[in-house]
Amino acid sequence: MGRLVATLVLVMCSAACSLARAHVGGLRRGVERANMRGRLLADAAAAGGGGGVVPIYWSQPLYMANLTIGTPPQPASAIIHLAGEFVWTQCAPCRRCFKQDLPLFNRSASSTYRPEPCDSARCESVPAHSCSGDGACGYERKTLYWDWDTFGIGGTDTFAIGTATASLGFGCAMDSNIEQLWGASGVVGLGRTPWSLVGQMNATAFSYCLAPHGAAGKKSALLLGDSAKLAGGKSAATTPLVNTSDDSSDYMIHLEGIKFGDVIIATPPNGSVVLVDTIFGVSFLVDAAFQAIKKAVTVAVGAAPIATPTKPFDLCFPKAAPAAGANSSLPLPDVVLTFQGAAALTVPPSKYMYDAGNGTVCLAMMSSAMLNLTTDLSILGRLHQENIHFLFDLDKETLSFEPADCSSLS
Ligand SMILES: *[C@@H]1O[C@H](CO)[C@@H](O)[C@H](O)[C@H]1NC(C)=O
Ligand SMILES: *[C@@H]1O[C@H](CO)[C@@H](O)[C@H](O)[C@H]1NC(C)=O
Ligand SMILES: *[C@@H]1O[C@H](CO)[C@@H](O)[C@H](O)[C@H]1NC(C)=O
Ligand SMILES: *[C@@H]1O[C@H](CO)[C@@H](O)[C@H](O)[C@H]1NC(C)=O
Ligand SMILES: *[C@@H]1O[C@H](CO)[C@@H](O)[C@H](O)[C@H]1NC(C)=O
Ligand SMILES: *[C@@H]1O[C@H](CO)[C@@H](O)[C@H](O)[C@H]1NC(C)=O
Ligand SMILES: *[C@@H]1O[C@H](CO)[C@@H](O)[C@H](O)[C@H]1NC(C)=O
Ligand SMILES: *[C@@H]1O[C@H](CO)[C@@H](O)[C@H](O)[C@H]1NC(C)=O
Repeated sequence: MGRLVATLVLVMCSAACSLARAHVGGLRRGVERANMRGRLLADAAAAGGGGGVVPIYWSQPLYMANLTIGTPPQPASAIIHLAGEFVWTQCAPCRRCFKQDLPLFNRSASSTYRPEPCDSARCESVPAHSCSGDGACGYERKTLYWDWDTFGIGGTDTFAIGTATASLGFGCAMDSNIEQLWGASGVVGLGRTPWSLVGQMNATAFSYCLAPHGAAGKKSALLLGDSAKLAGGKSAATTPLVNTSDDSSDYMIHLEGIKFGDVIIATPPNGSVVLVDTIFGVSFLVDAAFQAIKKAVTVAVGAAPIATPTKPFDLCFPKAAPAAGANSSLPLPDVVLTFQGAAALTVPPSKYMYDAGNGTVCLAMMSSAMLNLTTDLSILGRLHQENIHFLFDLDKETLSFEPADCSSLS
């Protein structure tokens, strides 16, 4: 994909919906992946044959994991970000920090903490690195999601996350312009980079399964290495990961077709590249496909849409409309997204008609035109990933998925 220069990120809240603006970009600079991979891995000591089971939980408006850092262990919590490039947490002393539920990580109180020297190969491979006064590797991460700018220093310490224990290189953020991370202390990135949790644990596979947002979402799971396996029934499907550039930390797949019941939704002749991520709430479709599905849903609901849809949605109906609700007597059809290799992902109306409060239900899909991207990109949002187990095989470069009861996996 080209760069996501200016992007808007939607966070789906369980009670109300809020729209968060974001500018994603500048992060996909050439990290020397191959070189770094080898070096970092020499340090990574993954437990359990490279495997691990990490319980993750819905904490409005995102999925998070509890972890500990250091010796003795200091508790922290982190947002699970599939496309995230690295692992970071806020550290004391902090110049400018957002509020977090747990105390800041105190490096002086950990006997296993090691600063990353600024002349190390690892430090030099980090874009925008610098030398701090004490010779530690300083880094600057510009414009992650939501205008997130963080400044900090690189270090290494022992992490325990679920059943996995590993010595990880991480960012100690001490200055950021982030307003809030909803109580979390930092972010665990699972992206295709040597600095992510997946990269540092040398995991050749990982999987996750998001139990539906809200109370049920308390029992979701991230499975690393050997632990990552699908049940592999008839409903399991596999599609290749798309390699759009050699410096992208993202996971992309290729959309070939969309059906709304029996209606074939027109997609671009060559399909569309789809970003899979855990940050976006709703899904975004290339504009032509979105307009077609919007029309098909309106026809199927058989009622006039609300003139001023609840922000940030594009299409809303009164809940009382005959076929508006997931619980209505006139059932709406499933949306079936078909990815390369005939891998079909079914999105039932309970996942695409979102209860937006105030007696309205809204289509949880939007046009990617509103993201002002430079490329034709679609995005598979979290709502449409709920109760589907996604397995990323980094050796075979494939994404497999199957419907699952996510709360029973960990
Ligand atoms: C997209 O572009 C339009 C028109 O230039 C602008 O009004 C809007 O704020 C932009 N949206 C984002 C998310 O940058
Ligand atoms: C419901 O409507 C009220 C009054 O119009 C408004 O203040 C409130 O923000 C709405 N709530 C949601 C969830 O849209
Ligand atoms: C990383 O994985 C590869 C194969 O998948 C293996 O050959 C290599 O030894 C592993 N490295 C470490 C440090 O575990
Ligand atoms: C995460 O930690 C918090 C305390 O910081 C605790 O209340 C919560 O139950 C933990 N959640 C899980 C899923 O372990
Ligand atoms: C950090 O830990 C050190 C050593 O245990 C202690 O002296 C210091 O007060 C702690 N700092 C904070 C901010 O808690
Ligand atoms: C993607 O393609 C580029 C160029 O063909 C190649 O250098 C790179 O290794 C590929 N990346 C992956 C993850 O396969
Ligand atoms: C679509 O794919 C065909 C065959 O791979 C290619 O020749 C054509 O340029 C592509 N069109 C677009 C718009 O990308
Ligand atoms: C369907 O019914 C359930 C349980 O009564 C309710 O929680 C949910 O909001 C309803 N969904 C819609 C779209 O009305």
